[in-house]
Amino acid sequence: MLNIVILAAGLGKRMQSDLPKVLHPIAGKPMLAHVIDNARQLHPDRIVVVVGHGAELVREAFADQADLHFVIQNPQHGTGHAVQQAVPALVDAGQENDATLVLYGDVPLVQAATLRSLLDARLQGMAVLTENLGDPTGYGRIVRNADGEVQRIVEHKDASAQEHTITEVNTGILVAPTAHLKDWLLRITNNNAQGEYYLTDIVGLSVSDGVSVHAAHPGAAWETLGVNSRAQQAQLERLWQAELARRLLEEGVTLADPARFDLRGELRCGRDVFIDVGCVFEGQVELADGVHIGPHCVIKNSRIGAGARIDAYSHLEQAVVDTQARVGPYARLRPLAHIGAGAHVGNFVEIKKTHLGAGSKANHLAYIGDATVGERVNIGAGTITCNYDGVNKFETIIEDDAFIGSDSQLVAPVRVGQGATLGAGTTLTRDAPAHQLTITRVAQTTISGWARPTKKP
Ligand code: UD1
Ligand code: CA
Repeated sequence: MLNIVILAAGLGKRMQSDLPKVLHPIAGKPMLAHVIDNARQLHPDRIVVVVGHGAELVREAFADQADLHFVIQNPQHGTGHAVQQAVPALVDAGQENDATLVLYGDVPLVQAATLRSLLDARLQGMAVLTENLGDPTGYGRIVRNADGEVQRIVEHKDASAQEHTITEVNTGILVAPTAHLKDWLLRITNNNAQGEYYLTDIVGLSVSDGVSVHAAHPGAAWETLGVNSRAQQAQLERLWQAELARRLLEEGVTLADPARFDLRGELRCGRDVFIDVGCVFEGQVELADGVHIGPHCVIKNSRIGAGARIDAYSHLEQAVVDTQARVGPYARLRPLAHIGAGAHVGNFVEIKKTHLGAGSKANHLAYIGDATVGERVNIGAGTITCNYDGVNKFETIIEDDAFIGSDSQLVAPVRVGQGATLGAGTTLTRDAPAHQLTITRVAQTTISGWARPTKKP
């Protein structure tokens, strides 16, 4: 049986934040959620999260994942002490292949493939994820014997001058046989420079008990970087975005500049998709074949159909855009906006909970909410659906081939019949019949002989 223990009790003082460190996001998702999601890919029998600082906030953030086990470590006496708190929550079948993998909540980007290679490396014994660093300062060092076998880990603060020259460091991530781990955790002491119970001391105990210790290495160096400060968080954010961009490029997506691309969720792309600079994608976004996204768009939980084009500075949330439609520049699609095939939505047009039928156009300055708009409808500049009376929302229906003159207000509930025309400036409070002109504006008059007032002497 496989346990995964995630250490997340630390304070994260250098973040200078009221939010517990492990809840700070990378790519829009709490660091701890990255760790948990990656851990789940190994199909563990149990995940135990050791919390301390901000424990309640951390638990709340994961309230929807009922299978997680939280244990409290308070106060914090080191990584060994942290894993000790998890021991009562560990599962084991009393078998030799029972293992416990330890991860850190503030090392968010370790990939499942790296963890699998660590599990494979242990061969019934224990395995440590290690790495060679140009500057190993601060890290625990991997001490090997003349045969190259791992003997123990020595923390930087406890290391001799000679041990300081070792460049192979402990990333902190390790896996051990569960029964042995429980025993070793009872035997570690806080007899060291920091007065802490070091998890790393189990390596020496393992060797003296004749349990082999192996080492594995991360697939990429960024996987094992930890976050202790906002600067490191920002650095990891860019590294991870670069990785996400790299994966999209590999799938055949064109990114005008991979360094100016942000994905905070999942982006599924068809063939020959183009994404210009400065776009932010959030939640679940789908871009079908040949979609073109202009610069500086924000697109959240939306689906864009084949050949559609979203021009610069558009903002889409929970919207569906059908094939060949054109949206923007400067368009706003709010939740449940559905833009039909080949339809056009232009600058400063806001659309909410509305189906805009195929081939219809709202090209300039309009608000269309709670509406059903048929096909080939033309919505003039300045058109507004007055869908809200201050208490309730009402619907507007515009049938196929209608023409809404500029600056019209449609006071819902109201219906514009098929092929109807509204004259410019109409305030529609009753249904407009099909195929006729409806107009509410005052007839134009000219007062002859009228003179402008003049300034009194
Ligand atoms: C640890 C390792 C060191 C390794 C380094 C890699 C030990 C003794 N040392 O050192 O060999 O090179 O990580 O970054 O394990 N935590 C708790 N409770 C505690 C202490 C820590 O939950 O009582 C958590 C922290 O929140 C953090 C993780 O454990 O997520 C590591 O703690 P940290 O203090 O950063 O470890 P280091 O001293 O850097
Ligand atoms: Ca420490």
